[in-house]
Amino acid sequence: MSSTTNPHPDRAINLDGGLPQGAAKAVAVRKMFDTISPRYDMVNRIMTLRLDVRWRRQTADALALPAGSRILDLAAGTGDFCRVLEGRGLRPIGMDLSFGMLHHARTNAPLVQCDALRLPIATAGVDGVTCGFALRNFVDLSAFFNELGRVVQPGGRIALLDACAPEQPLLRFGHTLYFGRVVPLIGGLLSDRSAYAYLPKSLAYLPPPAEMLETLRAAGFSGVQRRLLTGGAAQLIVGTRAT
Ligand SMILES: C[S@@+](CC[C@H](N)C(=O)[O-])C[C@H]1O[C@@H](n2cnc3c(N)ncnc32)[C@H](O)[C@@H]1O
Repeated sequence: MSSTTNPHPDRAINLDGGLPQGAAKAVAVRKMFDTISPRYDMVNRIMTLRLDVRWRRQTADALALPAGSRILDLAAGTGDFCRVLEGRGLRPIGMDLSFGMLHHARTNAPLVQCDALRLPIATAGVDGVTCGFALRNFVDLSAFFNELGRVVQPGGRIALLDACAPEQPLLRFGHTLYFGRVVPLIGGLLSDRSAYAYLPKSLAYLPPPAEMLETLRAAGFSGVQRRLLTGGAAQLIVGTRAT
């Protein structure tokens, strides 16, 4: 049996052998999002208690680019970020690996199916990039950051949002309980349990924060900063393409 075959076709993602890696991860992540796409928005709002909406707005604020700027929203999913960006007069293009997620997108922005690690965009072709809740889904984070360094023009901005586990012990305990137990239960009732059990586990893919920021600097970004949102339940990383 190949490493990408799911022996449990009733599950969106098979975690029997631990978190998938490399090419198997890309296949598994794409299939998982294809599967959960029809109810992705609803489950997202419920499981984050609508905080995801506030976090995307804070991310768009942090991008701090003028109206008319050309923005790539990478791992655009169902278009939530594109709508926020459009509302601010920016010109987003949404890109995502999953046809299912793009099919359920609600946005007027152009949408492209592609891998964020190999963007069909000219060097220095855009003014900025947003990316929401996807860093841990990429197979190679440093290749992703290098691709951002290539496509963002000098002076351009990036604002990357992802989930996080709070550092404060009590908050961390509550967070682990909520995302480890409650979220898979809600996900199981409304969508797919295996996908929403993957969510807390997938945080383990992320390198330590200092290493992530250093990798971004090495990819050509200056002023790189990481901000914790809502007690550390989410993290926002920003930077400016060095000139
Ligand atoms: C948790 S969803 C986030 C969607 C959206 N950004 C949001 O804010 O709700 C993660 C998205 O990353 C996409 N994704 C994962 N790996 C990708 C890759 N290599 N290239 C492009 N998109 C990818 C998935 O298809 C999925 O739509």
